[in-house]
Amino acid sequence: MVSSAITATEEWAALARHARELQSGGTHLRGLFDSDPGRADRFTTLAGDLVVDWSRHLVTAETVELLLALADRAAVAGRIEATLAGGLVNATEGRPALHTALRAGPDASLEAGGVDVVPAVRAELDRMAGFARAVRAGERRGATGRAIRTVVNLGIGGSYLGLAMAHEALAAFRDPGVDCRFVANVDPADLAGVLGDGLDPAETLFVVVSKSFTTAETLANARAARRWVASALGTDAADRHFAAVTADGAAATAFGVAADDVFTMWDWVGGRYSLGSAAGLSLMIAIGEARFREMLAGMRTIDEHLARQRPAGSAPVLMGLLAVWYRSFWGLQTRAVLPYAHRLRLLPSYLQQLQMESNGKRVSLDGAAVDCDTGPIVWGAAGTGGQHSFHQLLHQGTTVVPADFIVFARPDADTARLPEAGSQHESLVANCFAQAAALAFGAGSDDPHRELVGNRPSTVIMAPELTPSVLGQLVALYEHEVLVQGAVWGINSFDQFGVEHGKALADAIAASLHVDPSQPASDHDPSTAALLAQYQRLRQS
Ligand code: F6P
Repeated sequence: MVSSAITATEEWAALARHARELQSGGTHLRGLFDSDPGRADRFTTLAGDLVVDWSRHLVTAETVELLLALADRAAVAGRIEATLAGGLVNATEGRPALHTALRAGPDASLEAGGVDVVPAVRAELDRMAGFARAVRAGERRGATGRAIRTVVNLGIGGSYLGLAMAHEALAAFRDPGVDCRFVANVDPADLAGVLGDGLDPAETLFVVVSKSFTTAETLANARAARRWVASALGTDAADRHFAAVTADGAAATAFGVAADDVFTMWDWVGGRYSLGSAAGLSLMIAIGEARFREMLAGMRTIDEHLARQRPAGSAPVLMGLLAVWYRSFWGLQTRAVLPYAHRLRLLPSYLQQLQMESNGKRVSLDGAAVDCDTGPIVWGAAGTGGQHSFHQLLHQGTTVVPADFIVFARPDADTARLPEAGSQHESLVANCFAQAAALAFGAGSDDPHRELVGNRPSTVIMAPELTPSVLGQLVALYEHEVLVQGAVWGINSFDQFGVEHGKALADAIAASLHVDPSQPASDHDPSTAALLAQYQRLRQS
């Protein structure tokens, strides 16, 4: 059965015709700007402190109209409204996607399962704040009575990527008194690297972040960390060196975490949308309660922008529609995220999960296979480094890659002590603007090896400075852009069944890794059986 909900509509057909016209008609960004001096201003949208300049996209005024008509036909506004109101938009799991409740305003009331969740959100945030304050003040001590100097976050996916990204992004706002580290990979090298770096168990607190409290990598690291603490301080002491953030509190206390040190995640917040939840505990310890709340307020600013703005003036709606435009009507498979900010270098990895685990779907909400391309492959790296790595392909390759540039008008607050910080930051900004212009307008040359054809689209997102509030705004902007894409494609952006089978396979294969090599691993497919044999041989070599 093929779902034809959106692709069978006249709005979809009109966009397909229009795309063919633009593609065959020689439309170039040079011409679009030459014929319309006001284009840059008209195709720039303000959202909170964010300036979203989407004028260098392969769109005309007609394109925008057709995209908005498609959004209207796909009932994007209704999907947004249902999501913000706590509707069961995650239909396959029968849940809301109510991450906006984590940053709800003072008078908000949002229901999940018939219960106003805002009071519980507030209470948990206050619990987090009390714990973070105690750690930062040296009042939350370890088993030997010594203050905590290092917090090690154990988590993976949404229990790691967002808070590691935010921790790095907000380095200028971190308290030097508490060092936060992150371990995600089951590869023992990850934990060993952190524990072996001069950490003292008596001064180390592990925060186990796992919504399910079943993720193999996280539990393996938690058990190993517990052994590391116990070997130094004794088994009974270990409990004092663990906190947990999970939707399964019983599992956390069974692991040995004291109930007062277990913080709640709810099932109506997806892991990749959980930065504003207690999953961000390590981040709150690093930057403090006030800054964490500033980040939440920044998220709320964009939530309110989404709720109030008409589609034509909504940055997340326009960005989401552009993503659909390139993926489904231009066949462009990837999208580059290029933060021109060293401390946002983990943003592409965070957005990979947010975008690809949300919209990497081939089945629509009605259970039928979609008949259009969905979710782009997201990748990227901080500028200006990418210019000395993959920008060659962006400029002269045969694959067009829509890019998101992110840049700030002022350098990070703590760089002022560097004598040349101002001029270096200006160089960063100049390079960002130059790359967007070169991609869009190209550069003619009589030498074909030197010609840049241009017409390569990008968005430039600019804000005054990388602060907790601006980071929150960026996170919410992308969260909601994902929602818009999924609404147009008619897919569920909030489940992730695709990752379950691999986990089950890994468990089965792990059980075979110790089998005697002379015994054929008959309960695996032939390729895996062959790999197992090679593995045994190499391990013995
Ligand atoms: O990748 C699958 C996934 O469930 C993600 O959605 C989630 O963020 C990650 O694994 C970690 O899950 P948990 O927080 O339950 O350990």
